[in-house]
Amino acid sequence: CGIVGYIGANDSKEVLLTGLEKLEYRGYDSAGIAILNEQGMNVFKVKGRIAALREKVDASVMANVGIGHTRWATHGEPSEENAHPHQSATERFTLVHNGVIENYYELRDEYLQNVELKSETDTEIVVQLIEQLYNETNDVLEAFRKGLSLLKGSYGIALIDKENPDLIYVAKNKSPLLVGLGDGFNVVASDAMATLRETNRYVEIEDKEVVLVRADRVEIQKLDGTVVERAEYVAEIDASDTEKGTYPHFMLKEIDEQPFVIRKIIQEYQAEDDSIKLNEDVRKAMQKTDRVYIIAAGTSYHAGLVGKQFIEKLANIPVEVHIASEFSYNMPLLSEKPLFIFISQSGETADSRSVLVQTKALGHPALTITNVPGSTLSREADYTLHLHAGPEIAVASTKAYTAQIAVLAILAVDTARVKGLDLSFDPLQELGIVASAMETLTDQKEEFDRLAKEMFETTRNAFFIGRGVDYYVVQEASLKLKEISYIQAEGFAGGELKHGTIALIEEGTPVIAIATQENVNLSIRGNVQEVAARGANTCTVSMKGLEKDSDSFVLPQVHELLTPLVSVIPMQLLAYYAALHRDCDVDKPRNLAKSVTVE
Ligand code: G6P
Repeated sequence: CGIVGYIGANDSKEVLLTGLEKLEYRGYDSAGIAILNEQGMNVFKVKGRIAALREKVDASVMANVGIGHTRWATHGEPSEENAHPHQSATERFTLVHNGVIENYYELRDEYLQNVELKSETDTEIVVQLIEQLYNETNDVLEAFRKGLSLLKGSYGIALIDKENPDLIYVAKNKSPLLVGLGDGFNVVASDAMATLRETNRYVEIEDKEVVLVRADRVEIQKLDGTVVERAEYVAEIDASDTEKGTYPHFMLKEIDEQPFVIRKIIQEYQAEDDSIKLNEDVRKAMQKTDRVYIIAAGTSYHAGLVGKQFIEKLANIPVEVHIASEFSYNMPLLSEKPLFIFISQSGETADSRSVLVQTKALGHPALTITNVPGSTLSREADYTLHLHAGPEIAVASTKAYTAQIAVLAILAVDTARVKGLDLSFDPLQELGIVASAMETLTDQKEEFDRLAKEMFETTRNAFFIGRGVDYYVVQEASLKLKEISYIQAEGFAGGELKHGTIALIEEGTPVIAIATQENVNLSIRGNVQEVAARGANTCTVSMKGLEKDSDSFVLPQVHELLTPLVSVIPMQLLAYYAALHRDCDVDKPRNLAKSVTVE
């Protein structure tokens, strides 16, 4: 979910609505705003997108203070009742919340026996609880603090009190929330991107702090009331990077940006003498470890699988790659000197953060590789490597995946060089070749559009096969297709298909194979033959030098280790065009959110 708040001299509505539009990547099943003026509190809520909310909001109502929310449902179905903001019984207090309150049943039974609840959400419990505590204390700040101290779970909260239009009460625990500083106004947002039009000056809030946001000042306190001083920072995001420009979808824009991102990474990680430039502490941590544990979710997990290859093959360090939500509850036996690498585009994924909290408690070092340096995972890990990919807005990740792989390759080679391992592979030079190869591919969109129509327009399911590193890429390829076109798709190890899954192949079932590795070229082609013999509609994407006449597409040649960076591009474009041919909402697929800040 995403939160935005405004307090200041101007009308708050437009700041809230534009802010929520920028936060839609965090969830978009329902939305709402509450704005307070002399006539009272005005709440507007809808099931659906911000565009629908915009239509519902009464443009004639002006207010200098307001809070807004866009939701990704956890407790309670998407509906107007369950949409935020939520209000207390007397409607004195209005609140928006991002996160999950784990003890909400207990709180309801202990404090709210006599209150009639209007929604099914854990959030309403919080606002009702604060009102009950206010009834006992007659002090809003005291009630807010006491309420927070009773909550178990994660929250980013903004609350307004009808009786006091000069203040927004703000707090967070585990969920991200920032305060933005303006001239004559201040804002609150889950992500600086939401309020970049207003300001680029921000202040971080730490877990369990209480922040009092007024138009002319911001006061941070600990839960016990002690005042905390915190320096502001400048959010270095260009507001225009968060716009689509002439592109029909963010996803297509981000696919096209990949060559530039790779060049930017080369520039950022290259020293003046053309050697690799890397944080010395990261270097030392890589030298010290006896085993790397990569922790990630979704697309970042798939990038981690490719990263394992680099670190093992080049730097000679064993690597385990784990899905964050599994590792949390089922920690494997650790080596003596583990190093944890968290890969996360957003740096906010709650599943990954939960592992970081556990491994930090065990005293193990952590490196975060992320696109958002100020994010929670970046702040809480010992070291950060930045992806420099620019804001990624489409829910389906593309440029962050290739950036993650590029940075992992650089890290692996650097580690190998410091170790004195003999390497002929120059990642910065090879990445330059990759960037040009990517451009050749993004210039051939019509080809992928045609192929996507032919293979996916009406199919029920699809299979992707590969061996070795291509197996890792087909897992990402199938995730892309699933996410945005809703076709049931799976990525399989080519040799494993015959051990069960081949039973699903029927006349016309699409099977896409990737063949970029010489040592498995013949065997993956054997697997293509097996499914073709059973009626599959096959398509092979191969690397130049390994191609056969029957291949559907030949990729420009790049270094054997870096093939995922180019073989994934046709997969991203095929998924994109498949979604278009099936009339799906490419940038905002159903049920998903880009940044999942609940476990
Ligand atoms: C969500 C998104 C995925 C993303 C995953 C991990 O599920 O929908 O696209 O890969 O989170 O996100 P992260 O920001 O940690 O890379």
